[in-house]
Amino acid sequence: MPSQDSLVNLVVSKEEKKQIEKQLKKRNRIAVDSRIQTDLLLIATGVYSPLRGFMGKEDYTRVINDMHLSNGTLWSLPITLPVDKESASLLKEGEEIGLTDERGKLLGVLYLKEKYLYDKIREAELVYQTTDAKHPGVARLLSQGDVLLGGEIRLVKRPTTPFPNYYYDPVEMRKIISEKGWKNVVAFQTRNPIHRAHEYIQKCALELVDGLIIHPLVGHTKADDVPADVRIKSYEALLQNYYPSERTLLGVFPAYMRYAGPREAVFHAICRRNYGCTHMIVGRDHAGVGNYYGTYDAQKLLLSLPPEELGITPLCFEHSFYCKACGSMASEKTCPHTNEDRLILSGTKVREMLRNGQELPAEFTRKEVAEILREAYNNNNGSDGRDDIR
Ligand code: ADX
Repeated sequence: MPSQDSLVNLVVSKEEKKQIEKQLKKRNRIAVDSRIQTDLLLIATGVYSPLRGFMGKEDYTRVINDMHLSNGTLWSLPITLPVDKESASLLKEGEEIGLTDERGKLLGVLYLKEKYLYDKIREAELVYQTTDAKHPGVARLLSQGDVLLGGEIRLVKRPTTPFPNYYYDPVEMRKIISEKGWKNVVAFQTRNPIHRAHEYIQKCALELVDGLIIHPLVGHTKADDVPADVRIKSYEALLQNYYPSERTLLGVFPAYMRYAGPREAVFHAICRRNYGCTHMIVGRDHAGVGNYYGTYDAQKLLLSLPPEELGITPLCFEHSFYCKACGSMASEKTCPHTNEDRLILSGTKVREMLRNGQELPAEFTRKEVAEILREAYNNNNGSDGRDDIR
């Protein structure tokens, strides 16, 4: 794991902030959307260490082609700042560009080193393994600007992040880990409510390490994923009732979902390493969507990487479920029975049950979570459009 000293810190001091605000020319400002705002925050606070800005062409090209930065460091997803051609034509390389939120509030500065054109279809093929515009990550890529701006950044003002009570910068997270005396810490990435299968693999992992960080992604997700506020309620209920408080921490991961499957699993792992975790749980179809990736592709990719390059150990779990014949949670690795004995509910079935006011089986989801989902569903914001609730 990189030491704390090697964590990037590009958050400016109060004095620097005043100076930057004075120096920046009014005309050199562009408004960036919430996804880019989050990337700005995550670069500046070291979550994306060793990145110090939005990628220039050399890094971008090497990352999409072979998952490394131009200096040879492992990095799996492009972190880019796309703008349309017209906006790009107003910006000069070598200038300082103010990055603002949608209302014009200055959030950061980009020291514009280069602007360049890129091939979206090639990026889609290499990063998402599909050019299908129905893939949510590909759809976003295809709709974004045609020019990428590269260069180092500074963070002048933190963009608003949801759930501030659960928000920790990597430095803060590392401090908590060290104060708790945890030598080994496993991170659990999720964009879903935690069901019994999740709980099972988390607790199997916790048997091996000192601490568990439940680290839900709370940035932008597709419209039919369960909204983050509903999920946070469900995590709180679970932690209160079923997890050892001295060994579990809930923290939010502000990034947005790319749905890039294996490549995103590597990105998730690198970020969690930077937060100070030594292990990360990787189950079936991590960061996947639809049928674009094989069930264990993310695990295969992670395990193929040299451990010293990754700097965090993937803890891989097979598809888990409740098995009636075993009378317990189990996985394909540990259960000798067939699907007939296994409780595997499709998303469609879960939605149908919620719609009909039916109880979700306790073997599938804790009653407290079921209650929160049912309430959200009744208020019409808890649907999960996937065929497979996980
Ligand atoms: S993800 O997009 O954040 O990966 P999700 O919240 O569904 O999606 O999954 C969180 C983690 O749990 C991932 O590592 C995923 O592979 C794993 N996972 C989800 N469901 C299961 C399951 N039934 N069995 C084993 N692992 C699972």
